[in-house]
Amino acid sequence: MRRPFITSLLSVSFRGRDKLSTLKTEQCRRLFKNLSSVEIREKFLEYFVKQEHQKLPSSSLIPHNDKTLLFTNAGMVPFKENFLKPDTAPFKKVVTIQKCMRAGGKHNDLDNVGHTPRHHTFFEMMGCFSFGGYTKETVIRLAWNFLTKVLELPENRLRVSVLETDEKSYNFWKNEMGLSAEKIIRCDEKDNFWSMGDGEGPCGPCTEIFWDTQRDTDDEDRWLEIWNLVFMEYYRKSDGTLEKLPTPCIDTGLGMERLASVLQRKESNFEIDSFVTISEGINELMKKSLLQEETASSSINKNIIADHLRASAFLISDGVVPSNIGRGYVLRRIIRRAVRAGRQLGFRDPFLTQLYPNLIDSLGSGFYPEIRERENTVKLVLEQEEKIFLNTLEKGLNLLENVFQNTTYSNTMRIPGEIAFQLYDTHGFPIDLTELIAKERGWSVDLSGFIELQQEQKKASRNTWKSLGISEKARFTEWRSQNITPTFTGYNLIDPQDCKILGINLSDKDLVITLDNCPFYGLGGGQVADKGYIQSTDGQRWEVTDVFQPYEKALALRIRPEGNGCQDLGELDPDMLEGLKVGSVVKAVVDTDYREGAAIHHTATHLLNAALKNVLKKEVMQAGSLVENGRLRFDFTHGKQLSQDQIEQIEEWVNQAALSAIALETKELPLQDAIDSGAVASFTEKYSEVVRIIDIPNFSKELCGGTHVRNTKSIYPFKIVSEGSVAAGTRRIEAIAGQSCVGWLREQYNVFNRIAKGFKSTPAAFENQLSKLVEHNKSLQKQVSFYSEKQAIAPDQNEPIIETLQDITMKIHQIDPDFDNQFIAKRANFLKTSEPDTVHILTSNNNIMVTLDKSRYPKIHAGKVLQNILQKLGGKGGGQKEMAQGRLPNLTNVVDEVKSCLQEDILQ
Ligand code: SER
Repeated sequence: MRRPFITSLLSVSFRGRDKLSTLKTEQCRRLFKNLSSVEIREKFLEYFVKQEHQKLPSSSLIPHNDKTLLFTNAGMVPFKENFLKPDTAPFKKVVTIQKCMRAGGKHNDLDNVGHTPRHHTFFEMMGCFSFGGYTKETVIRLAWNFLTKVLELPENRLRVSVLETDEKSYNFWKNEMGLSAEKIIRCDEKDNFWSMGDGEGPCGPCTEIFWDTQRDTDDEDRWLEIWNLVFMEYYRKSDGTLEKLPTPCIDTGLGMERLASVLQRKESNFEIDSFVTISEGINELMKKSLLQEETASSSINKNIIADHLRASAFLISDGVVPSNIGRGYVLRRIIRRAVRAGRQLGFRDPFLTQLYPNLIDSLGSGFYPEIRERENTVKLVLEQEEKIFLNTLEKGLNLLENVFQNTTYSNTMRIPGEIAFQLYDTHGFPIDLTELIAKERGWSVDLSGFIELQQEQKKASRNTWKSLGISEKARFTEWRSQNITPTFTGYNLIDPQDCKILGINLSDKDLVITLDNCPFYGLGGGQVADKGYIQSTDGQRWEVTDVFQPYEKALALRIRPEGNGCQDLGELDPDMLEGLKVGSVVKAVVDTDYREGAAIHHTATHLLNAALKNVLKKEVMQAGSLVENGRLRFDFTHGKQLSQDQIEQIEEWVNQAALSAIALETKELPLQDAIDSGAVASFTEKYSEVVRIIDIPNFSKELCGGTHVRNTKSIYPFKIVSEGSVAAGTRRIEAIAGQSCVGWLREQYNVFNRIAKGFKSTPAAFENQLSKLVEHNKSLQKQVSFYSEKQAIAPDQNEPIIETLQDITMKIHQIDPDFDNQFIAKRANFLKTSEPDTVHILTSNNNIMVTLDKSRYPKIHAGKVLQNILQKLGGKGGGQKEMAQGRLPNLTNVVDEVKSCLQEDILQ
């Protein structure tokens, strides 16, 4: 990122020393290490692992569970939660090399790529992180030593910046790291306070390390920011306010490509080894096609292709496919820009996939295995998108060329909105591509004209869609009358499969479709509906949010655009709906992990049902059931609480069935035959004439339409986590099985371990220690009450404040805040009896008490006195004639405030 302000400060601080630096340049070039990209990654990871950091692989470019971001755009993104709750972070010190994208959304470098030496859409960010593991001083030392000792970068070519108010960092750089004052630049929050765009998230002051490229002093690019060390101390809430984080954390980011350009002595990131490997591939392709020689614009186009190939390959390998919205549209724009850059070099056919071997080589040593493992998919998607665009690119470019030649437009040198729209709508030119081409010729684009036309088209198209949509109820009646029914294919077939759309309905809130074959399980028999997505042939993915049965033998899917989707479907871009027409084929993909979790808990439910009958030795009836992917809930008829012994026997019975590794058998039988065969039926279900039986030989046989595991071994281990009553005569058990149970047990152990640690004990010794603690606590309590009895009747520790109102003595006593209310009451009682001539007011923290002897002062009411005080100071309370107590709001000096209330009116 360009930092004109900082870089000009840096230049000022450096003025006068240029001679020296020029003299030294040659020497420095020879001195510091020259490393390949592969070696840089290795050295970085090795250094931090030696410093006890846990090495973690890069996370996906698609942020997990984070609706605020389109892409992972910094190394800290996967750790957002850890900054908020460092106690639960699995590792305190972490080192990563994170894949990042800055295209689309707040951080968008797309337009600059290829034209500057530093901008990329895709780049690698190397970072070390601490979640309460070390201080900012430590990270400064670690970073500086890595640069100057491991990479041997000369110190005189490095400068640092700090936040102007961050004295600690300034002093540390100066006094401990030995940097002279002119090498430490103080900047304001604009430069040295890092946060995630303008939005919500962890943030804090930072210190940055710059490299002197020794280019012309006036060039603001002379100073290259290489490492940003952020001290995460705050959380910026959505309303913009800052909240202190529970524990200060550290986030750092070192641009891999920038560092490589320094170490490899290159002027531009595009000249480093990894990019050269790709541009050599481009040169080869040009040679093979006998294309023209190098020009200035051809090197820009090569840079664009190299950058965009990396970005699109990584995006596709992380599951993004080209589409017309969100992440998919960013990918589409990137590929289309690359295709057009190729066209500039003279390529007329798809060429990106031919560069794939170069891409693999450029990344070296399989550091990102996904690029090899998903090679076929990535190439397929790339080639398909290239072909689609090449079909229209030529015509679009001709259209543009005509405009450039047309004297009507050349006066203003502005591409009219209608042409930009025609290019977008008919020839698939993303608007930013049209703008780029215009800019190359010194032209502009009538953007507002374009947007107006685009919105008009969307409105018209939306209206057409809306006119198709009717109420769901009416739509289902229509489908039923057309006899639309699907086959549920998901008992066995959960691999992605092609299905045909039989019906569709769109309202502002919901988009519902029905398919001929449906692998998605719909909510039923207590089991939750499947999750997953469908993908239309144009690549658009739709998340399946619900699967339900609108009428018998029908299954409907409620869907919405995947990813950064719009909430209001009425605003949906009609282009996206292109692939969802009745009769279109879509790919249906069930989330198999989620399904497996539900299947485990469904089979566990059957075994639990059988175990209850066995252990309780009576016919308990199922009264309700819920099967989710991470737990089960089972209600059954039984009048008494289960004993611990019974619970353990039930668990043991189910675990035995699991460990016996029994293959499940599924049969279909007429209902009566099924019941005659001893299969258990639940009276809360409605059964058809032919029913499905799930048989776990020797353990359980039940009528059931749900999905199950193939073998009981998948449900091991099984654990009941709660047992209680739901209604008279009905009990409820909650249980967890399989992998979820392993996770749950681990978490229980971790909690227990943490508690034991908190008591400076170990899990094994804790029980013993706890009973000792309880005993010790009892004895302490006895001692406390013994001494507080004495203290309650002792002379005042703090001198009371004495006031006289209408000849009545009033005393304000200040009680030590460590004493509780019970003590204050005792003390009040003592004061009232020992000094009956005085009205006593006792305060401790926010507590206040008023007491007096009613025989001595029959006309004064303690409750009223208290009310009068509370009326002046705020707070709540009340009481009787002799004794009243209340709570005051937070006051800086309680005694003074109460004293100021003691005026005549207080006694009324
Ligand atoms: N989060 C900081 C950045 O992106 C440091 O990694 O610059």
